[in-house]
Parts: sequence; C-alpha cells; structure tokens
Amino acid sequence: MARSLGATDVGSLAKSLQEMSMNGTEPPPQYFLKENSIKPMDSFLPSDPIPIIDISLFSSSSSLSSKEGEDELEKLKSALTSWGCFQAIGHGISSSFLDKVREVAKQFFALPVEEKQKYSREVDGSEGYGNDRILSENQVLDWLYRLSLRLRPVDQRKLQLWPENPNEFREVLDEYGTKVKIIMDVLFKAMAKSLNLEENSFSSQFGERAVMQTRFNFYLSCPRPDLVLGVKPHSDRSGITVLLQDKEVEGLQVFKDDKWFKVPVIPHALVVNLGDQMQIMSNGIFKSPIHRVVTNSERMRISVAMFNEPEPEKEIGPVEGLIDEKRPRLYRDVKNYASFNFECFQKGVVPLESAKI
Ligand code: OGA
Ligand code: NI
Repeated sequence: MARSLGATDVGSLAKSLQEMSMNGTEPPPQYFLKENSIKPMDSFLPSDPIPIIDISLFSSSSSLSSKEGEDELEKLKSALTSWGCFQAIGHGISSSFLDKVREVAKQFFALPVEEKQKYSREVDGSEGYGNDRILSENQVLDWLYRLSLRLRPVDQRKLQLWPENPNEFREVLDEYGTKVKIIMDVLFKAMAKSLNLEENSFSSQFGERAVMQTRFNFYLSCPRPDLVLGVKPHSDRSGITVLLQDKEVEGLQVFKDDKWFKVPVIPHALVVNLGDQMQIMSNGIFKSPIHRVVTNSERMRISVAMFNEPEPEKEIGPVEGLIDEKRPRLYRDVKNYASFNFECFQKGVVPLESAKI
C-alpha cells in the first residue's frame, strides 16, 4: 500500500515548481513519465481537423430546423461520436470578454506566492489553489498549478477561496460562469436533438442542483518537455467541459485512432469536450475523449475549464431511447460519479470500464 504524503511534502513540492520553472532547474523524477518520453513527432495536426461548429445555429428552434441548422446538427453528432470534442464558434461571448477572463487569470497567477497561498487548497479538499493532490508515492506529477472553484449550486460557493485580487476576479468569474451555463444548456438540447431524442433527455439527468466547477490551469515553462507533461492523459469525469484555451500557446492534445492530435489555438473559440458521464448517458454513442497537455520550455500557458456534472445524488444512466437490440445497454446506472471516479483512480482502474455492465 502506498504511503500518502503529508501536507508539508506537498507544500515543499508546490513551492519548488515555480522556482524550478524560473531557474530552469532539472525537475525531480516524480514528474517524469514512467514508460516513454514525448517526442515532437508524436503528435500531429490532424489532416481531418477537429471540427469547428457554429453553435449559434442551435440557439433557437427556427434556426435549428433550417437547412443550415440541420447540417450543423449532423456535424455535431459526427464530432461527438468520433472525436468527443469540437471547437465552438458563434457561442455569443465576445472576444473582449474572453480576453478579460484570460487577463484576470493571468493577473492572479502573477501575484506573489504568499498572496496566492491565501487561497490554498485544504489538504483533503478539492477546491482552492495548488499543485496535484499527492495520493501515492509512485504518482507521476503534473507540471502545473490549478485554482479550482465550485460555482454551482450557488449556495455551495466557498467565497473565501475566490481571489479578491485582481479586484474584478470574482465578478468576471461569476459572469463567465453564467455565460458558459447558457452555452451548455443549448448544447444539451442540440445533442439530444441530434440523436432524435426529446430535447431534455440529457439536461433532465443533471437535475436542478447540477454541479458547475471551474479550474484555472497555469502551466509553467518546463526545462524537460520531453519527459514532463502539463497534465497526464485522462478523460474528464464531467458531463461536459468547456475550455477556454490560451490565446497564443498550444499544449492540449486529444487521443484518437491511436494517435495524439494537437488542438490548435483559435482565439475566439471555446473547446467543448464531453466527459465520462455523457458517454454513459449516451450509451457509449458519444465519446469522452482521452486528452493530455504537453509542456514547452519557452512560455507559460493558461487555460480555464468549466465542468458541468449531474447533481451527485441523482442516478444517471443511458437514455432509454438509445438502448435497443442492436445497441444493448452498455453501462449501469451510477450516482455520485465524482466519488466513484476518485475511488477508481485510487485503485488504478478506469472508471468508464468499471461502470460497464
Ligand atoms: C482539464 C484539462 C486542458 C487544458 O483541466 O481537465 O484537460 O488545455 N485541461 O488545460
Ligand atoms: Ni481534462
């Protein structure tokens, strides 16, 4: 049984990442990938690129039933069954507001370490600022700092962990959360429609008290991008994730057909990817893609992820209309996927596999 490291170990590692990045120090082996290294040739720009979808066509029933709307819906279905992700344009959030979100994130990260530590993650908590939670000795560490905050249900916000500096941080985050929630609701309906289901087939499974969580990711430049990842390969445990990428620096890659594909930067687009719970609800028709973030030795990269997942106490499972003789039920009903996911992670098993019948 692996020993779990105490808070002091976490603290000392946490401090050194920023220093190691600044000084160009060789990272300690805890950060090294176990089996293989990453060569620049290992990832590609897809020749059949990650789809770009104009989601403004999904926002009203009249545009949805137009020829253009129907074509876009078909594109959505194809994107989610093959890639499990796409780049959304026409989402209605102005480029200047997206820049504002990036800007407050950048300003927060630029604060002195002591100031950021006011918002440090509690030892066993999941919210706040810090590095990887260390759960076992042989865990490979990710080269980043995160600030994780719950936005919804609103009465569960831990405002003491929401930065007050820069002073617009809270306001911008709140507004961004509201805007992204609207986009997600439009997408749930469009996804259901694309599979000829009732439009609330997915949204009703999220419940009134669905959880919305945000994660600011701060990837520092890393002296060994051949050995160290920003984030290890994973699929999101969410229902759906909306990611605002850095405007200039690439890093995100998606695994498809046994290869890693780069997700190119499109400054005004939002990357949408599905999480495990949507793969379950769609009975495996839609994919929750495996993705990772690579590091680079020159520039830091910032991204902001918004995760939406069903209310923990609600049982979720494959939508009835997606189960038939040709496609039998693949997954059992599950609830509290967040804890389920965490237990699987500790046991070293893949959650989506464990949820199979
Ligand atoms: C995540 C994630 C990708 C990125 O936070 O789950 O995959 O580009 N982030 O930061
Ligand atoms: Ni992810």
